[in-house]
Amino acid sequence: MNNQLTYAMIGGGSGAFIGEVHRRAIALDGSASLVAGALSSTPERSMESAKQLGLPKDRSYRSYEELLSKESVRTDRVDFVVIVTPNDSHYPIAKAALEAGFHVVLDKPSTHTSGQSRELAAIAEANDLLCCVTYNYTGYPMIRQARAMIADGQLGDIRKVFVEYHQGWLASDLENSGQKQAAWRVDPERAGLGGALGDIGTHAENLAAFVTGLELESVCAQLNSFVPGRQLDDDASVLMNYAGGAKGVLTASQICIGRGNGLSIRVYGEKGGLEWAQENPDELTVTLLDGNPTIYSRGGPGLHDYAVISSRIPQGHPEGYLEAFANLYRGVADSITKKRAGERPTRLGELLPTIRDGECGVRFVEACVESAHKGCVVAL
Ligand SMILES: NC(=O)c1ccc[n+]([C@@H]2O[C@H](COP(=O)([O-])OP(=O)(O)OC[C@H]3O[C@@H](n4cnc5c(N)ncnc54)[C@H](O)[C@@H]3O)[C@@H](O)[C@H]2O)c1
Repeated sequence: MNNQLTYAMIGGGSGAFIGEVHRRAIALDGSASLVAGALSSTPERSMESAKQLGLPKDRSYRSYEELLSKESVRTDRVDFVVIVTPNDSHYPIAKAALEAGFHVVLDKPSTHTSGQSRELAAIAEANDLLCCVTYNYTGYPMIRQARAMIADGQLGDIRKVFVEYHQGWLASDLENSGQKQAAWRVDPERAGLGGALGDIGTHAENLAAFVTGLELESVCAQLNSFVPGRQLDDDASVLMNYAGGAKGVLTASQICIGRGNGLSIRVYGEKGGLEWAQENPDELTVTLLDGNPTIYSRGGPGLHDYAVISSRIPQGHPEGYLEAFANLYRGVADSITKKRAGERPTRLGELLPTIRDGECGVRFVEACVESAHKGCVVAL
């Protein structure tokens, strides 16, 4: 990988969750080096967090505005900016970073409105800049295998998709205990229109789209807030209609006590079905009509090139969340390096989720909220 790429991080300061995951994922393959940051919401905490990470003083910034203005005039300016702040600040920070000419990696949900994501996509495309959205579950080798098998027609035309993302960590009012990750996720001002729907439902929506290649046409959603006082959903059930007639069922819930990160997908076509679960990510089970279930194993024989290039160690030594996340960053490094050379990205870059995928995710949330609001409930 290209060790010469450098990046700045916005968000991900001391005590934050996902920023550290991004840093570890980037470091796993040496995809880039962290050299600058505006890491927290206050100047003091930003500087303190930068010190803890050992960032150089002259590239430890008090705010994202200072980072972008000072980095953009350096001869050794960073190659890309990683944005891992809560959802409400994604749009202004990503817009400013793209306008300053930086490639951007943005966490999900990309923005509060689909129009904002569309605007970011237009800026990125007009300036030939990468704007990747970290739908990190697309980085799993066996998810890439599933996508390749469906694209090859091995399951035939897709009829039905079941996708779920279930967690239990918001089953009580954790937001009132001072837990900051919970506090902003249940606040519509900061999280956006969706609660569980936006936080993890968007991962499920994206996973189904990535694996099947199907385009979502309409939804019928029920959104629930089980924990008293919550303004946003903590539980969502969505029926999905895809172009071409396939149907989907998506559930996203954060009140499922006992579930950690229960993301799973099952896809059924005319000729076969497949299933995968992120808590056992190295295996993909495929069953063809009239056949026995076959387990495809990461690192094993007979896999598609997409799965092979996304794997590091032999079959039987487990890989997981960080490796999948790191696969996205290998794609980021590949895309930026190839753009510089005026070449097309390799397969690693081709597979990257972009702000256009982010736009689909936010549009999905908007449509679900509208559907749930209109409601159609028939009493028995
Ligand atoms: N891809 C995934 O699987 C995944 C998982 C978790 C979170 N996320 C997303 O990542 C983002 C962050 O989530 P988190 O759980 O890490 O949140 P967090 O609250 O743990 O961390 C957010 C960090 O951003 C900082 N911050 C806030 N405003 C800032 C600003 N204006 N400038 C600089 N820093 C600022 C905070 O001080 C904090 O350090 C969210 O959009 C979330 O949806 C994605």
